[in-house]
Amino acid sequence: MASHLVVRACPPFGVRGAVSGLEHDSLALLDGAELERARAMTPRTRQNFLAGRLAQRRFAAGLLGVQASDLTAWYSCPRCGTGADISHGKPAYLLRGEAVPLLLSLSRAAGWTLLAGLVDPDPGQRLGIDVEDPARADFDGFDDVVLTAAEQLHLAGLGGISLLRGRARLWARKEAWLKMLGTGLQTAPDTLDVLGTNVDGHAGLRDLTPAETGLPADLVAAIAVAVLP
Ligand SMILES: CC(C)(COP(=O)(O)OP(=O)(O)OC[C@H]1O[C@@H](n2cnc3c(N)ncnc32)[C@H](O)[C@@H]1OP(=O)(O)O)[C@@H](O)C(=O)NCCC(=O)NCCS
Repeated sequence: MASHLVVRACPPFGVRGAVSGLEHDSLALLDGAELERARAMTPRTRQNFLAGRLAQRRFAAGLLGVQASDLTAWYSCPRCGTGADISHGKPAYLLRGEAVPLLLSLSRAAGWTLLAGLVDPDPGQRLGIDVEDPARADFDGFDDVVLTAAEQLHLAGLGGISLLRGRARLWARKEAWLKMLGTGLQTAPDTLDVLGTNVDGHAGLRDLTPAETGLPADLVAAIAVAVLP
């Protein structure tokens, strides 16, 4: 069967279509390592984290046509390894102990959760998604930490919201690509050039429009899908 990609945005609390409340019944769907990680968070962060994890589990279950309660979170961290006791890194689930034919990626910004699922992936295929709020790119030093010299030149002359959107656009591409690789920010973002797409061998990296994601137009998003050797 050919692989197919599904992207879904989940709104913040209080907005129509938001993840249903974080009541006991819903939280019981999550696994021990996920709940343990949540316990160490501040209330607001915890709420966003749990909502995203619930949305991701229900999304995965819907794509697979199974019960969310039959899935076990099976995260992979390049440093810590893979398994039920890993609560961070690249997301995946087991179905009753077996790997499932589904790639997943998740990102949160401004209370929104953006999910991508690739059902029946081809061998070696990888997936990464990212959403950014341009308002979060408004700090001194952003360009030096995040952008290559060519990217800094590309944004030179921009100001105000155009600059912030330009920064956030490049940042979203970088994070989508680095999530796809599975390394995250262990790779320094200022070493990765994502000007345009399909540059530097980044075939499969592209921006997502609000029409494709369902996100509000003030947020920017990117997705990376590629076959890695
Ligand atoms: C991946 C990363 C760039 C995303 O950061 P962010 O902008 O703060 O967060 P986003 O909301 O966009 O994405 C968070 C999601 O990215 C995913 N993610 C985290 N690390 C990932 C990785 N190595 N590969 C793929 N996806 C990853 C998870 O689904 C995470 O969701 P969670 O909070 O429910 O666990 C950042 O978390 C990172 O670099 N992590 C790796 C750092 C690392 O390896 N540290 C060593 C830990 S021992």
